[in-house]
Amino acid sequence: MKNFIVILVGCTFLFLFIASPASAQSEAKALVDRECAKCHNTKRIYSANKDAAAWEKTVDRMIKKGAAIRPEEKDAVIKYLGTLNK
Ligand code: HEC
Repeated sequence: MKNFIVILVGCTFLFLFIASPASAQSEAKALVDRECAKCHNTKRIYSANKDAAAWEKTVDRMIKKGAAIRPEEKDAVIKYLGTLNK
């Protein structure tokens, strides 16, 4: 019985460990698909070939234009965009 609980707890942590970065990514994707498509379509985003540093500049510029990305969401969005086109 004890072993079973140990395994169960271990699996739960393993699952959380595997699932959390993936869900941060999909949240960032949902945000990009929703907020960044308000002024132009996302083709412009998904066809761009930028690294994270270039995306940071672009995202800052878009925020100045009015993109509704909150400061605490910005890092996840930039990280997600940086993984595109690789
Ligand atoms: C308030 C309107 C608006 C929103 C919201 C917006 N954009 Fe833009 N975006 C523009 C305009 C206008 C241009 C063209 C002028 C320019 O490039 O500055 C543009 C151009 C771009 C370009 C092409 C130019 C370049 O630098 O490569 C990319 C890529 C881009 N946007 C990405 C994004 C992303 C990512 C988001 C979400 C974080 C976003 N945009 C949200 C208005 C917006």
